[in-house]
Amino acid sequence: MARVINTDQYPVYINDDRALAEQIALIAPSKVFVLVDETTEQICLYQVLEILPQNSIIIHIDQGEVFKSINTASFIWKSLLHNGADRHALLINLGGGVIGDMGGFCASTYMRGIKFIQMPTTLLSQVDSSIGSKLGVDFENIKNIIGVFQHPQAVIVNTSFLKSLPYKQLLSGYAEIIKHALIADRELWHELETVNDLRSLVFEDLIFKNIHIKNTIVTEDPKEAGSRKILNFGHTIGHALESLLLGSEEQLLHGEAIAIGIVCESYLSYLKGFITIQQCTTIKKLIINLFGHKYKSLPPSNEIIKIMLLDKKNKDKKILFSLLESIGKGNYDQQMTDVQINESLEWYKK
Ligand SMILES: NC(=O)c1ccc[n+]([C@@H]2O[C@H](COP(=O)([O-])OP(=O)(O)OC[C@H]3O[C@@H](n4cnc5c(N)ncnc54)[C@H](O)[C@@H]3O)[C@@H](O)[C@H]2O)c1
Ligand SMILES: [Zn+2]
Repeated sequence: MARVINTDQYPVYINDDRALAEQIALIAPSKVFVLVDETTEQICLYQVLEILPQNSIIIHIDQGEVFKSINTASFIWKSLLHNGADRHALLINLGGGVIGDMGGFCASTYMRGIKFIQMPTTLLSQVDSSIGSKLGVDFENIKNIIGVFQHPQAVIVNTSFLKSLPYKQLLSGYAEIIKHALIADRELWHELETVNDLRSLVFEDLIFKNIHIKNTIVTEDPKEAGSRKILNFGHTIGHALESLLLGSEEQLLHGEAIAIGIVCESYLSYLKGFITIQQCTTIKKLIINLFGHKYKSLPPSNEIIKIMLLDKKNKDKKILFSLLESIGKGNYDQQMTDVQINESLEWYKK
């Protein structure tokens, strides 16, 4: 069933086969560019090609987080420039969060900003990264440290893309769904508690619900001055792990790192007296049951803490966390000590 969520700034279409053609007709771009990686080129592009004008240009990049870099951005800018993109060109980002974040960043900076459409093809990008207009690339091993806020013309979600997604990638997106439930929807959390195998899920409903949750949070605070920070639950420790292991053999997918972050930061919520140890244990069990227990590959705590000091959410060199006020309600700007952070990492490892 085709559905639409009209955010303040752009429409989000879910399973609407006509949305792309309609958007292109509405925008009437001078030329259409499509950004893909090797996989989305093979698996997803054919579904889009028949709708595009014949002179459209496909920009291919290598897949994976290590290519979410200024070098790749530079390649995308060059591809736009050398293929005649003017200020009325349109860039369609067809892929996961890497394509969406980086393609959106390139579009927003090329000639001070050309229009772009997000066509997310992974669960993570459909429920999270394509919503909320945060765009960027990694730099000096720090996640998303170079970037901008900019709205797309539209987000077009097609859940049939998920059929080809490897289970590991599905799980990675599911971590953000767990996060959304824990910070904003207690009822959804109780539904998730009963799920053992993601293949049994009805994704269309779940995606609709999660886009709604994320959109409600970002609409209230678009530039993350305050309340939007609750979306960072699990991400202070998660991002540090993701950054530290980037490019190594133990490299974690974004959601895998966030899942560990959720366990540790639930424990920090317990240390603050917000939730009970039983609630913490339930969260840990659910996550380890789905994601496995990756404690053996974790770097030493002092290295993790050192990276956390660079976190964008910090102020005055203090590490600030977004935690759970209760199950289904997030809070933010919670300061924790190194000792407590260390304890939370040890609790995950146990
Ligand atoms: N902007 C935001 O608000 C925000 C929020 C959360 C995460 N992120 C970012 O999102 C990124 C992670 O996104 P991701 O998990 O989508 O990663 P990704 O873009 O690397 O995609 C994961 C893998 O799946 C492949 N793939 C994509 N679609 C597929 C399909 N339909 N079938 C089979 N394979 C497919 C890709 O080629 C890639 O190899 C991170 O860089 C993270 O920082 C951004
Ligand atoms: Zn995330």
